[in-house]
Amino acid sequence: MLKNLPLNVALVLALVIGLLVPAGLSGWHQLNSHRDVMTRELNKFHEQTAETLAIGIRDPMWHFLPEWGAEFVSSIMLDERIVEVFAEDTANDFVFLHKKIPQRIANGLVLTIQKPVIFENNPIGMVRVAITTHQLETALKEEQTRLVFVVILQLGVGLLILLPLMYFKVLNPIQLLICQSQKLAQKQLEQPFVWNRTDELGTLGKSFESTRQALATLFQENEQKAQELGDALEELKGAQKQLVESEKMASLGGLVAGVAHEIKTPVGNAFTAVTTLREKTKEITELFEQNKIKRSDFKEFLQDTDEGAKMAQTNIEQAAELIKNFKQVAVDQTSEAKRRFNLKTYLEEEVILSVKPQLKHTPQVSLEVLCKEDIELESYPGAFLQIITNFVSNSLMHAFSEGQVGHIVIEAYVKNNTAILVYRDNGRGMPPEVLEKIFEPFFTTNRMGGGTGLGMHIIYNLVHQKLGGKIECKSEVGKGVEFVVSIKLPV
Ligand SMILES: Nc1ncnc2c1ncn2[C@@H]1O[C@H](COP(=O)(O)OP(=O)(O)O)[C@@H](O)[C@H]1O
Ligand SMILES: [Mg+2]
Repeated sequence: MLKNLPLNVALVLALVIGLLVPAGLSGWHQLNSHRDVMTRELNKFHEQTAETLAIGIRDPMWHFLPEWGAEFVSSIMLDERIVEVFAEDTANDFVFLHKKIPQRIANGLVLTIQKPVIFENNPIGMVRVAITTHQLETALKEEQTRLVFVVILQLGVGLLILLPLMYFKVLNPIQLLICQSQKLAQKQLEQPFVWNRTDELGTLGKSFESTRQALATLFQENEQKAQELGDALEELKGAQKQLVESEKMASLGGLVAGVAHEIKTPVGNAFTAVTTLREKTKEITELFEQNKIKRSDFKEFLQDTDEGAKMAQTNIEQAAELIKNFKQVAVDQTSEAKRRFNLKTYLEEEVILSVKPQLKHTPQVSLEVLCKEDIELESYPGAFLQIITNFVSNSLMHAFSEGQVGHIVIEAYVKNNTAILVYRDNGRGMPPEVLEKIFEPFFTTNRMGGGTGLGMHIIYNLVHQKLGGKIECKSEVGKGVEFVVSIKLPV
């Protein structure tokens, strides 16, 4: 509770308690000692009065003259504290004098003293004096009122001095400090904080000003640095773009060189075949013109022509296949528009339908599509078809040996907001050195059988560039292959 007390309330409370407690205690002590002194004085007066009376009444009592005594008693009774005077002639058992003023008792207590009256060493009577403490009480009460008044005055003057002092010296500057620290927190650093005072709070305020300056400089520097960083980033992006471009150019160059190299062999072979064919034709023409042609020569010629033409045809076909595949490498050539489609339906209907002709000649190979859930994609279905067609033709070309019972599985599901397409066959698989290179253009293990080495490269480009996904391949010799294509779905 004390923690949550506002500063001004706490200070006023401290002042009030700090003034009231000592003033109250000292007042109480002062009042007590005053009461002691006054009581002692009153007792002394009482004693003396009784003594004076005992002595003063002695002669009138001895001579039995009450009127003498009455005068004396009247003079004693002038003092307002005396309430009653009583004198008795004990020898004759006779009330010698008695005077009483009861209204003098008022609010006080009544104290009584009795003394013997001695004449020539013989007691002849006694006197009694009663006094009231009324005056003493009144005096003490006045004293008390005065003390209370002094304490209140002290408190008032103290507060009157302290409150403005506290306001100007503490509360107001603290308010200002709070305001300035809020400005610092809100990064309002333009206006300087002006502090003219030299006390502790002034020092604190000035250190706020130093903080403001330091922060302003820091922010300025930061802004400058951010600007520089932004520029650097921009430059870096430019450099990266350039790098990507030159990398593209390099890979294009490599590709072109590869194509030239790949095409050189079949074209060269075809050329050789055609050249040989022409030479043979020339030979037979000469024989024909000289009329030397024999039946066996012509038969041989026909055989050579057939072989040469066949060889030229195979090689030209291979070159044509290369060019066809090579055209696919440039993925962007397929001008299909992006559209929304259901992957499950697409795989189960269109893909199976398109792949069927490929499988027609291999009835021992079966294909299965496993897709439990509906997967909605905003993408290029044609690219999926192209990818799967290439996978299937690779399985048919590389995976299964003659007559082997093959099984191909295409699976699709969604995991961690990613669409995953898995292609699996149970063929011969591949060794690590093949696995390592399968995505490289022109890498093939079946050049003799007409492989171009572009199928996997096309798949890679389609997945990465067209679909914005990733492709992974797992395979071991004898354990088939597994390709995993993953495409992040929009959140
Ligand atoms: N399903 C598969 N099983 C075994 N090997 C495969 C399979 N798919 C691809 N390969 C290997 O990857 C190589 C590259 O494939 P690809 O780029 O399509 O070229 P190509 O089919 O013209 O040989 C193939 O030559 C083959 O060695
Ligand atoms: Mg292939």
